[in-house]
Amino acid sequence: MQTLATDRVIIVGAGLGALYAALKLAPHPVVMISPEVLGEGASSAWAQGGVAAAMDAADSPDSHAADTVKAGAGTVNPAVADLVTREARDYILDLTTMGTPFDRTEDGGYVLSREAAHSFARVVRVKGDQAGAEIMAALIAQVRDTPSIQVLEGTMARDLHMTDGRVTGVVIQAADEGRSGPVLLSGSAVLLAGGGSGGLYALTTNPPRIRGQVIGMAARAGALIADAEFVQFHPTAMDVGEDPAPLATEALRGEGAILINKHGERFMQAIHPDAELAPRDIVARAIHAEVQAGNRPMLDTRAVLGEAIKEQFPAVAEYCARNGIDPAVDPIPVAPAAHYHMGGIATDTQGCATLEGLWVCGEASSTGLHGANRLASNGLLEALVYARICAEGITATLTGGTDAAPLEIAFPDGGTPPAPEAVQTLRQTMTQHVGVVRDRTGLTRALATIAALEADHGDSPSFLNMCATATLIAAGALLREESRGAHERSDFPETAEGPGERSRMYLADALAVRAQAVKELS
Ligand code: SIN
Repeated sequence: MQTLATDRVIIVGAGLGALYAALKLAPHPVVMISPEVLGEGASSAWAQGGVAAAMDAADSPDSHAADTVKAGAGTVNPAVADLVTREARDYILDLTTMGTPFDRTEDGGYVLSREAAHSFARVVRVKGDQAGAEIMAALIAQVRDTPSIQVLEGTMARDLHMTDGRVTGVVIQAADEGRSGPVLLSGSAVLLAGGGSGGLYALTTNPPRIRGQVIGMAARAGALIADAEFVQFHPTAMDVGEDPAPLATEALRGEGAILINKHGERFMQAIHPDAELAPRDIVARAIHAEVQAGNRPMLDTRAVLGEAIKEQFPAVAEYCARNGIDPAVDPIPVAPAAHYHMGGIATDTQGCATLEGLWVCGEASSTGLHGANRLASNGLLEALVYARICAEGITATLTGGTDAAPLEIAFPDGGTPPAPEAVQTLRQTMTQHVGVVRDRTGLTRALATIAALEADHGDSPSFLNMCATATLIAAGALLREESRGAHERSDFPETAEGPGERSRMYLADALAVRAQAVKELS
């Protein structure tokens, strides 16, 4: 395989964590592996709600941390919740300095949205539902202006490279997988910041390329994975037949939008005292039950926003318009969709994975912040905090100077892209059997299907990465014989007593669970 050595830090991914880390590493030279043009294809750019931070004088980081711990259903690491929430305000101020046009009040304060399970309105927003896109635009402008950062657009990572038990590089290829063989890039350090796993599900709010490849790549190299079974389903993805499903932000419910079914019944009031603002897992399950019962759940913004939704929530309004829905007149059909992976590559408080030389930040990591149910708008915050921690940790290891020649890569011919029908089968299997409500029979079937798909299509490294993550999620879900947060087992409906335990698994453990499932079904 062609090998290129560089003095640059290699960052896999191009979302918020990747961009922020690259900026914080400056002037140390960095190369970013970005499958798309910057800003396209990253989950961060699709985030509608915003960044959670205690900005109001009457609010506090302690209250934010307590809400985070409570939402996480017994599996949040309180020290991590404290670490992340304590400095949230500083990150908002930093993003503001970098040019993010947060919504401001007349007296110069920040306009704050309320989202589910927050005891305070504390989500800093941009034009209602544009936070992700605008934060990304501001950071991309900074990255384009920073000479130490080289962005390799149109490239993707497929394997980690190890030397003497240490991560020393990344195997990359052109993002158009049918057109390129691999190139090994060895660098001064490796940071994975390449998103989560939502696209492993047929119903998802994540961009199409976000299919667990980064987690799978690290797992295949031997990294420890934590909380793999904890996948968050956003309650109000728009049920309009689009793949991915457009999101109707939770901030709409924060404004007072209600959930009704086709009979006009407001069903959340009977389920939780906080009704539509109950924790996300509870709302997702209630909507799932309405879907299963054929009751067509809908988000009704008419009374609270009327025509104003078009100006106040332009992204949602545009999604509605392109699907022939006028939200001022008609409620918006919704269904739960895979949205955020709480689990991922296990990291310590320094952002280090269990493999020496590997740092991870953002959704691909599992820091212990989210537990079994992420508090809304904590995802972007965590990405920022750990991007900076990782950048500082990496900087401390760098011995070279700040000069590095730009990389020029000519990929060889070759490459085996994942077979589209295999990917679709995998995604449908995950939604059907590893979705909002799970049980032993379905999870066993899912594992057997993943094994068969992998056996038939294992010549595509990218597909192997997807199958690795899917296996970890399904095996973790099978082993967790309780219901907790977003992980609901119909055959184990109770939450186990005592403090919740985080799960930790190597891919080898998950493959053993999978082999057992195959045996049971043969
Ligand atoms: C939303 O706007 O509802 C999504 C926010 C999040 O997932 O953090």
